[in-house]
Amino acid sequence: MEWLNFVVCLTFAAFITDVFSSAGNEWTYRGAKGPEHWHLDFPHCGGMKQSPISVATSEVIIDMERLTPIVFKNYDTSSSVDYTLENNGHTVQVDLNVKESEVTGGGLPGTFVAQQFHFHWGATDERGSEHDINGKHFPMEMHVVHYNAKYGNITSAINKDDGVAVLGFFFEIGRYNDHFQEIINHFRQIMYKNDMVDIKSMPLVQLMPAKLSKFYRYLGSLTTPPCYESVTWTLFNETIEIAEEQLVSFRTTVYENVKDDVNYGRDISDDFRMPQCLFRRRVYASHPDLQYAIDTTEDPTAAGTSSQPLIALLISCVTFLLLSM
Ligand SMILES: *[C@@H]1O[C@H](CO)[C@@H](O)[C@H](O)[C@H]1NC(C)=O
Ligand SMILES: *[C@@H]1O[C@H](CO)[C@@H](O)[C@H](O)[C@H]1NC(C)=O
Ligand SMILES: [Zn+2]
Repeated sequence: MEWLNFVVCLTFAAFITDVFSSAGNEWTYRGAKGPEHWHLDFPHCGGMKQSPISVATSEVIIDMERLTPIVFKNYDTSSSVDYTLENNGHTVQVDLNVKESEVTGGGLPGTFVAQQFHFHWGATDERGSEHDINGKHFPMEMHVVHYNAKYGNITSAINKDDGVAVLGFFFEIGRYNDHFQEIINHFRQIMYKNDMVDIKSMPLVQLMPAKLSKFYRYLGSLTTPPCYESVTWTLFNETIEIAEEQLVSFRTTVYENVKDDVNYGRDISDDFRMPQCLFRRRVYASHPDLQYAIDTTEDPTAAGTSSQPLIALLISCVTFLLLSM
């Protein structure tokens, strides 16, 4: 397993020198235009600061001085203007048409304006999140995408080093979640790619967990092409609860094809990219509780704990680094 991952990392390294870029802007999560091939059309996808990553909790650096609580502005107010819910063929995305919610502090390099949020989910409960903690994946991950206010809009911020901040939230199966149901209720209006519908806006705080002071921080990229390495990532420790039946709506109601495509139809599930090599980066944590050794007494057959391959991936990435110095 380890040698295999080592080869994977060496292959990644080879991509770094890729400077060719062919025409075409289509990409998918499977097949000939899948993640292993993204770098051919989108060279940034072969870079050394890619996302997502696997967070190894024993390796994180605690930095309480810098990673103070994030300050949320207008996250608890409701916009008078509707949100737009869209199926873009890769995910379901909610666009915030009025840019009034902002985050600052928490070690973020500026003030960041909320632009949109979207989801990554699996066909089963054991997978779906893009990031993982010690190899444990969650059934869904939400990304709230913000642009740095100093760039004025997402278009000019998206490829700047300090252009984007994404807040990442993991989901766990639990109680029925009324707030997400308001979004899910509209899924049958956006069944196919490019479908969109206006939905009533809601305070963003309703979609987030209560305690937000414990988080991981690292520098990475967009997890979809063009994979710009412009993202300051924040991954929160507290998870969002959602009922299994609600996740089933994500899995079965929205499709990656346009309506007229009679030859092809597939639901969007498994719209996640595999963890990328960390290379020279470090992951920081806002609280000492977030640095812990992997609990080896945990039942290895338990759902969602397939840590071995990813730990091997991390080890091989470090090995690659040492060999290349
Ligand atoms: C985004 O900001 C840039 C730079 O300020 C500006 O030139 C561009 O027109 C803006 N784009 C949109 C879509 O507003
Ligand atoms: C949150 O932190 C606790 C330890 O303080 C850990 O057991 C739990 O798995 C963490 N969850 C996430 C999503 O990081
Ligand atoms: Zn995302």
